[in-house]
Amino acid sequence: MIIPFDIYYQFLSDDQNKLDKVYHKGQDKIWNGKEVLDSLFEKHGDLDLSPEHSLALKNILSIIFWGEYVAWNVASDLSSKLDDFGAKMASVSQAHDEARHFYVMGDYLKKRLDYRPKAMMPAAFRVLNGVGKTNNVAKKLLGMQLMVEPVAITIFRFLRKSQVDPLLSELLEYYERDEARHIALGIKYLPNLIKKMNILQLIDFVIWQIRMINAEIEGLRSIEKDLIALDLKPIEVFEFTEKKQVDCLKTLSAEMGVSDILWRPVGRIISFRKHLAFYPHKDHIFIRKFINSFFEAIKK
Ligand SMILES: [Fe+2]
Ligand SMILES: [Fe+2]
Repeated sequence: MIIPFDIYYQFLSDDQNKLDKVYHKGQDKIWNGKEVLDSLFEKHGDLDLSPEHSLALKNILSIIFWGEYVAWNVASDLSSKLDDFGAKMASVSQAHDEARHFYVMGDYLKKRLDYRPKAMMPAAFRVLNGVGKTNNVAKKLLGMQLMVEPVAITIFRFLRKSQVDPLLSELLEYYERDEARHIALGIKYLPNLIKKMNILQLIDFVIWQIRMINAEIEGLRSIEKDLIALDLKPIEVFEFTEKKQVDCLKTLSAEMGVSDILWRPVGRIISFRKHLAFYPHKDHIFIRKFINSFFEAIKK
């Protein structure tokens, strides 16, 4: 192994934008998963759910559960691949959080819903697998920190809004605070990687992003019935996710000191795909076929 002395000396001398702050903040805000869950079980009584609500919750939380597992692996992987010492510390701190999110969600599902998640829906699997298996650090960061994390935050927010389980609503506030901190690693570190890309790498990067967004839209559609069962509007969930992701991309552009022109085509394609997915209309049949075949063509 090569010890990167120069990067370490730079880390010691550079006070600006250091990601070790994320690590220290994570340590200050750390919570004990077992104690928190036990106290929430003590505070909230038994849960009397209808079979429809119970099924919807199991379907949605299975995705969250396996998403936490993938996030844990991705963060561990990034901590060994990133050069910058602050970024390494931030990703180790994230891996620690994600391990806690994983076991706490597993305990909640087992104790509250008597459920042990098995397979995941194919569309959600495609997104998580795409982010988990790529060896490209920039794609991993973009996929996990700026695409999957905003979806998770959105789902937490809407599950709390549904008030399906007061215990879960309180528990998810802990998750939400941690996930919001994780986004910083992508926003602060990705610009360094994007600036080093040549035009072909940049095109490949953006196409990969569009492919992942398409899989995310399919993922959200696959839980459409579950959202409706919880009295949530799928289009509102999608639009909240979209806004969170676009905000992340705008902050990323600002960090890079460039306009958000790079993401405009991505934004237009998402918007068009969204309308075809959530507002199907027979007048659009030919356009829909064309766009669907475009996404089929780029899907791997
Ligand atoms: Fe998490
Ligand atoms: Fe996270």
